[in-house]
Amino acid sequence: MNLHDSPLCELFGIELAIVQAPMANNAPPALAAAVSEAGALGSVAGATLSRDELRAAIREVRAATDRPFAVNVFAPPYLEDETLEVVLDERPRVCSFSFGVLDPAPLCEAGILTLGTATTDEEARALEQAGVDALVAQGAEAGGHRGSFLDGFPLVPLADLVAACVDAVSIPVVAAGGIVDGARIAEMLGLGAAGVSLGTAFLFTPEAERPPEHLEALRSFGTVVTDAYTGRPMRAARTPVLEELMAGPPPLPFPEQRRVSAQKGPLFMGGTNAAGSRELPAAELVARLAAEAEKAGGDRR
Ligand SMILES: Cc1cc2nc3c(=O)[nH]c(=O)nc-3n(C[C@H](O)[C@H](O)[C@H](O)COP(=O)(O)O)c2cc1C
Repeated sequence: MNLHDSPLCELFGIELAIVQAPMANNAPPALAAAVSEAGALGSVAGATLSRDELRAAIREVRAATDRPFAVNVFAPPYLEDETLEVVLDERPRVCSFSFGVLDPAPLCEAGILTLGTATTDEEARALEQAGVDALVAQGAEAGGHRGSFLDGFPLVPLADLVAACVDAVSIPVVAAGGIVDGARIAEMLGLGAAGVSLGTAFLFTPEAERPPEHLEALRSFGTVVTDAYTGRPMRAARTPVLEELMAGPPPLPFPEQRRVSAQKGPLFMGGTNAAGSRELPAAELVARLAAEAEKAGGDRR
């Protein structure tokens, strides 16, 4: 398997089997456009946008590139009908989702491919059985919310999860969690992944427009998985604000807890590998990742 010649390239119509992970409230449409224009798959982080904001974000990407991109939503019961309506209407090449199983049938009818999220091989099987086209295997290292939907919030290390998912399903498996360089990409492809999805690595690109405090918090405090900030387990920088919330009373259900937490201070989500992330323009990062993966893959290509 290699980045240029993976089933994911043909499926999604992309040159490189690299996905810019969707990051709600953290990844503007310009980032998705830059990544897609560079030959990978950019993602519009649609999960927390209103109907009008989502439509505007999709159109902003379309105005900047005619290449394929994904629109990300949360699965039911967190999905608003009007969000799905915008996706069906705008018809991006791919609709990715997390937190459950989104029925792919209406999307498929509209010519939209689906990319689910699994945190165990059981969840991978459930997604394949539901008919999704491909899945992201979200390892323990991943930044942001855990996409788990079957049995608790297991933290399976990425390499183990990819191997288990590749064994369990025949649809393409995309590896996500802590990946920031080509050597790790080559390792994932060697385990049978059809591609990779990177979130934190793209937070460090100027197109993400993250405030310096976010990047600094990830670098200096390290990260932890906790439900203390939003009511649902997610990996974020272990800041004093988060420490205080973790020591406090049990959180309210997701997402109400977020309103309480926001009064204490900001949340800086991210994965385990901020230290290895590079502050490069998105297109340059994509090109470097591809070159490094090719070099590290040796004769695999
Ligand atoms: C700041 C941030 C926000 C995220 N928001 C979303 C989201 O809205 N939808 C989603 O499916 N995944 C979201 N994720 C998880 C990513 O899709 C992906 O699993 C993760 O970024 C991979 O790990 P990495 O950050 O170490 O590369 C988010 C991750 C981060 C870091």
